[in-house]
Amino acid sequence: MFVLHVALQGALRGRNVEYGVTADTGGHIRYLMGLVDASEKDSAIERIAIATRAFQSDLGEEYWQSRESVTRKIEIVRFPTTQPGYLAKEELWREVPSFADALVDWIEKQPNRPDMLHAHYADAGVVAAIVRERLGIPFVFTSHSLGRVKLEAFTNSQDEVIADTDDSLGHRLKAEETALADAALVIASSRDEAEIQYAGYASYDPGKIRVVPPGSDLSMFVDARSSIAVDRMINRFLVDPDKPPLMAIARPVAKKNLAGLVKAFGKSPDLQNKANLVIIAGTRRDIDELEPELADNLYKILKMIDRYDLYGKVAYPKDHRPEDIPAIYAYARERRGIFVNPALNEPFGLTLLEAAAVGIPVIATDSGGPNDIVEVCGNGELVDPHSPTAIADAAGRILGSAALWHRYAASGAAAVQAYDWRSHAERYHRLMQSLLDAPPIVPTTPSQLLVCDIDNTLVGCPDSHAQFCKWHRDQAGMAFGIATGRSFHSAMMILEQEGSPLPEVMVTSVGSEIYHRAANATTYVTDQEWARRIDVDWDAQAVAGVLKDEALIHPQAALEQRRFKVSYLTDGSEDVVLRVGERLSSAGLQCSIIHSHGRYLDILPSRASKGAAVAYLRDLYGLTDRQVFVAGDSGNDIEMLRTMPQAIIVQNFSDGLATRPDLKHGYVASASYALGIIEGVDYFRRLAATPAK
Ligand code: GLC
Ligand code: MG
Repeated sequence: MFVLHVALQGALRGRNVEYGVTADTGGHIRYLMGLVDASEKDSAIERIAIATRAFQSDLGEEYWQSRESVTRKIEIVRFPTTQPGYLAKEELWREVPSFADALVDWIEKQPNRPDMLHAHYADAGVVAAIVRERLGIPFVFTSHSLGRVKLEAFTNSQDEVIADTDDSLGHRLKAEETALADAALVIASSRDEAEIQYAGYASYDPGKIRVVPPGSDLSMFVDARSSIAVDRMINRFLVDPDKPPLMAIARPVAKKNLAGLVKAFGKSPDLQNKANLVIIAGTRRDIDELEPELADNLYKILKMIDRYDLYGKVAYPKDHRPEDIPAIYAYARERRGIFVNPALNEPFGLTLLEAAAVGIPVIATDSGGPNDIVEVCGNGELVDPHSPTAIADAAGRILGSAALWHRYAASGAAAVQAYDWRSHAERYHRLMQSLLDAPPIVPTTPSQLLVCDIDNTLVGCPDSHAQFCKWHRDQAGMAFGIATGRSFHSAMMILEQEGSPLPEVMVTSVGSEIYHRAANATTYVTDQEWARRIDVDWDAQAVAGVLKDEALIHPQAALEQRRFKVSYLTDGSEDVVLRVGERLSSAGLQCSIIHSHGRYLDILPSRASKGAAVAYLRDLYGLTDRQVFVAGDSGNDIEMLRTMPQAIIVQNFSDGLATRPDLKHGYVASASYALGIIEGVDYFRRLAATPAK
């Protein structure tokens, strides 16, 4: 495979990139270099070229060189555009047409054309779209950051919107729309990016995006040790320096919510007995010399320490060197501490990976990227960052159980493997290969349809799941679908992690969304017709408004809230469904209310449920009830099991499924998890083959 990357910004060269030399020589170049370096190690990759813009400047002559060979497989090719000098990313959109012309010329002269382009950042996306239009070469897109996120930050801040005289942000948004619409595949770094940041674009289709986290170099954190200097720096604050610390490392910006952590600690005498609090909040000479936001947050932290009289229990060193960071984490590990990231929103969560690599459990915000990390690694707990009690409870739990501490600490090792460039490249190549090679899916009518819930039905027992995968290969003519409470990307992540067969259809967010596998066999397309059908009398904001002060429930993380799904956690009270139902209907809102595991509460449009979604698919495929099998284990499957005659309840069910009168027609398998699915399908097939008496 020959992959051509397009990256226009910054001072890009093959070796010793000078990060920070210009504002645009930063993260996206580090990403690109990490990616190509891992990518070339795969023998399936024959050639990698990086196309960038040539410019003349004092930064160095190399940036004007038309070709730079980096390794045997990797080269950088530079094309001059109308402006010869260095340009900031805001100015690059004007250079796109001349760059694209030069690139098309170059490609046409190559002995072999690239199989795939990979565009980095908005303007490169437009270049790739032009190349695709002229030469028919498909492209992958990575945004690195999105104009809409910037726009929202402007709109939400009280600062004046920075004068955007040439409307570069407007051009960027348009470029992102083009890239999103024309790319064969979009790679996002986190669910937050895939599901929230991209969601405002007109060409957004979640199924075209895959979350493949970037590699992180965690080697300096593995086996890190504390140092005398670090011990001294922290211990001089503490009356009892041997207690396990809760540790936070973050710049003191409002979003990082460090004062919220001090408050959680301050409000819990029990936690203060068990632990110290260590806050590494950047470095300072004089607080008043810092940017106002940083100074303001440091004052808040100091005020909380004083309010709760935490002297001798909190360390907040004034200064540290960047190279001390691994030792700072190690300080926490050596004392059986916990790393805490209480941010109000955390787009990715690199510090959690660092903590994982060092080997300490984490308590992390449930808003943003940490969801993915904690799910993949199982190295700690997610909490609502607005809730001091949630933070304190999680800390109390982990500190109170040596077994739990060890389990979380040991699980962190998974991070080093899961988040390295090698595994990124593996998944990335697999996706590209599939886009290029997989025979296009020709719409045929399946003769049967099997729809399974994911958690505790399809997955949950590795052995069972492995047998299911084998069994599934022999089920020609049977379409495979999943129906889950998870969102599309959350579902895709677990299916990929488990190596499940790629479903033909995915019913996600408790039946409120449907995705069909695209003709390219790799990405998915939203079923807009389904969205149209269920969008009757639905007003998510009104639902959230009515339930805002309901004491028995509290909202799930931002990522779990979807266009047609408002989700809460409950304390398990029996009457919660009744209470919530009454409140909604007295406000004139008709909704489906779905309670599962005594813990989750989902409010959906009245026409949406897993059951309604499967019935819709049955009709779409032109099947009869006898050609459809459904399998599930818990409350959010009831609707689906009730609607379909061939309903399979796996042995490890919960929420009383097997004894419900409305599920009497169902088959309760004697096997658990995925083996229960196979058993159930066999049962119903045999039943159908038995002549009626
Ligand atoms: C999944 C979803 C959650 C939902 C639950 C039950 O865990 O992530 O939002 O409440 O399923 O349907
Ligand atoms: Mg389940």
